[in-house]
Amino acid sequence: MIVFFTGTGNSRFIAEKLAEFTGDETFDIFESVRTGKGHTFTEEGPYIFIAPVYVAAPAQCLTDFIKRSEFPKNSKAYFIMCCAASMSASPVFCMNIASEKGFEYKGTAPMIMPQNYITYFKADSEEICRDKIKNAPESIREISEYIKAGKDLPQTKISNFEYRMTVPVLNLYCKYFMKSKAFHVTDKCIGCGKCVSLCPFGNISLKDNKPVWGSKCTHCMACISMCPTEAIEYGKLTKGKPRYHGPYSYNS
Ligand SMILES: Cc1cc2nc3c(=O)[nH]c(=O)nc-3n(C[C@H](O)[C@H](O)[C@H](O)COP(=O)(O)O)c2cc1C
Ligand code: SF4
Ligand code: SF4
Repeated sequence: MIVFFTGTGNSRFIAEKLAEFTGDETFDIFESVRTGKGHTFTEEGPYIFIAPVYVAAPAQCLTDFIKRSEFPKNSKAYFIMCCAASMSASPVFCMNIASEKGFEYKGTAPMIMPQNYITYFKADSEEICRDKIKNAPESIREISEYIKAGKDLPQTKISNFEYRMTVPVLNLYCKYFMKSKAFHVTDKCIGCGKCVSLCPFGNISLKDNKPVWGSKCTHCMACISMCPTEAIEYGKLTKGKPRYHGPYSYNS
């Protein structure tokens, strides 16, 4: 069973490709993130959890979802961390949640995909996006071989210091920088409501046919990246910056 969270589609792309190789079903946690509910899984493992890396750690909505869900005891758990450059201390977070939920931890693999964090960084160039997406299936196939053979994924060494540093930085970052207050629309907005339906937290509503943002935001970048008219900006930080429209826009 492949369980995934995605903001801009990279993790979905990995989940779907992996399913082609392993024959597993996929489960998108979008609805559960919206409702704040968990899920009771009864399927025999292995469970493969896929999510973007947010600030050197797995997206918190995935780990929160795992915490509030039920899984058969002693199932095997694999993790795939979708990142633009490095999964950093993510394996330690994955190992901890696996142990808390009684999984047999089978390792964490990084998957390098295009950068989507355009509020504070720049999206990768078209060429880099194409390369990353073109190379992804081979890396996913390699990961699938470990899963099909029931083997542990190769270990990445993370120092205890790196993990201990990540936790306070992550907490401060979430408190002070992962905010939706700076999101606003320009007059390019056509009131289509796509941003409303894409937000995993249900944080956006339409008022007078224009989106307004509430206070629950994980900076997944779905709204700003997928707006069909590129009408969404984040303060002045995104003005003139190219958007990342997701892996499926590079299929041709
Ligand atoms: C809030 C946020 C934090 C991020 N932090 C990191 C990071 O620490 N390291 C990294 O390599 N990529 C980081 N990224 C980039 C994403 O992990 C990467 O683009 C990923 O492929 C997005 O997956 P998705 O399309 O499934 O949402 C971050 C992106 C966001 C939105
Ligand atoms: S997706 Fe873009 S155009 Fe559509 S309502 Fe949201 S901001 Fe406006
Ligand atoms: S408001 Fe935008 S960036 Fe924040 S969680 Fe919703 S879709 Fe993601």
